[in-house]
Amino acid sequence: MEQLIINGPSKLKGTVKISGAKNAALPIIAASLLFRQDVTLTNVPDIKDVRALLGILDSLGAETTFKKNVLKISAGKIQEVDPDPELVKRLRASILTLAPLLVRNKKVFIPHPGGCLIGSRPMDVHLSALKRMGAEIISDSNGYQLEADKLMPSHICAEFSVTGTENVIMAAVLTEGETTISLAASEPHVQDLCNFLITAGAKIEGVGTHNLTITGVDKLKKISYQIIPDQIESGTFAIAAIATKGEVLVDGFVTAHQESLLSKFDHIGVNYEVISPTKLQIRPTHNLKNFKIRTEIYPGFPTDLQAPMSILATQSDGSSEIYETIFEGRLGYISELSKMGASCVTRDAHQASITGPTPLFGARITSFDLRAGATLIIAALIAQGESRLDQIEIIDRGYENIEHKFKLLGANIRRVALREIE
Ligand code: EPZ
Repeated sequence: MEQLIINGPSKLKGTVKISGAKNAALPIIAASLLFRQDVTLTNVPDIKDVRALLGILDSLGAETTFKKNVLKISAGKIQEVDPDPELVKRLRASILTLAPLLVRNKKVFIPHPGGCLIGSRPMDVHLSALKRMGAEIISDSNGYQLEADKLMPSHICAEFSVTGTENVIMAAVLTEGETTISLAASEPHVQDLCNFLITAGAKIEGVGTHNLTITGVDKLKKISYQIIPDQIESGTFAIAAIATKGEVLVDGFVTAHQESLLSKFDHIGVNYEVISPTKLQIRPTHNLKNFKIRTEIYPGFPTDLQAPMSILATQSDGSSEIYETIFEGRLGYISELSKMGASCVTRDAHQASITGPTPLFGARITSFDLRAGATLIIAALIAQGESRLDQIEIIDRGYENIEHKFKLLGANIRRVALREIE
């Protein structure tokens, strides 16, 4: 077990280089199972979730080499086996191997998904889509067995599910005929998966919209592809710069992906400048205005930035409202903020209000989920005194070298191994 020890308050200054997008790398790595040829990916974030998914590919017989954010995958030698169920259970994103393995091996077993702290994480959209495309689904107490000699082109309604949309895209790109998807998710990472597949010869129209048309091709060709910068990590660091009244250049902040966040920054009165399509300069900002956040599917306000924004709410004048519409368990971090002196009221599983500005004080806090963990780091950076943050392996799932990036910006932060007795 490890812990982060953070002493605040600090003002972040300098430049942060954002890593590749976790939620683009994961579906693109899963999609490499559709290839007989080698796939080379660059700008891949070296994070726990990527390593865990590579462990699943290795358990299937794929050959992977991952060094300095360059990942080479040879999936040509995959045997017709199921991924290691223990590895699959530990990683929600393993659901992304469902369609590629069904297409490749004509059958796949997937254990019931572990719920996690942000919500139940059902998979009905995934299963009903693949069933509609011709898969036989046998469910038992351990999970689902899917079998399909040949998938059929269909019309699928993806109900804006991100990984649900991604599974249908991966099921359709090698399925003869035309598959259409309505209510498709259009997040930057869904677009990146589409652009990766199109680069390899797939035929996908409507990328970036909620309606996709996919015409199956015979095979995908050998390619090298660069993963986009992480929309959520870049938003997280922009928010940290604002919260600490710092002066930070966020290198990898793709403004085209961040319209709703920038619109919130305008409303709050943040002092920022768009330096280039992928660089945002945050300047010292005082007197933040209170605000309302309602999380939505893309291009609305992203649920993954809901928690980090709450820190700005603790420092804004007046009462700010948070409405988390996507998940039912994503406000757990509020209790940790209260421990640090924030004035928060949680109305129900989806709504909370935070009144500011209130001074925060160092405390011993726990990161319940990936984005809540990053939020608590920001809280500790502006708090007076020392904070100790537990369960940081959860943060390592989605943020590469997070304490190193903050340290380069002047934060007083260090990672320590927890002595067993503590
Ligand atoms: C993806 O999860 C992301 N993960 C999540 O990021 C992100 O929070 C989420 O999309 C929403 O943007 C990856 O891309 C690997 P959904 P996903 O299917 O696909 C319900 C992070 O921190 N639903 O869009 O699992 C579901 O319960 C992670 O990086 C069904 O009802 O999310 C939820 O309420 C956390 N049935 C809503 O839809 C289904 O079959 C959105 O889920 C699938 C989903």
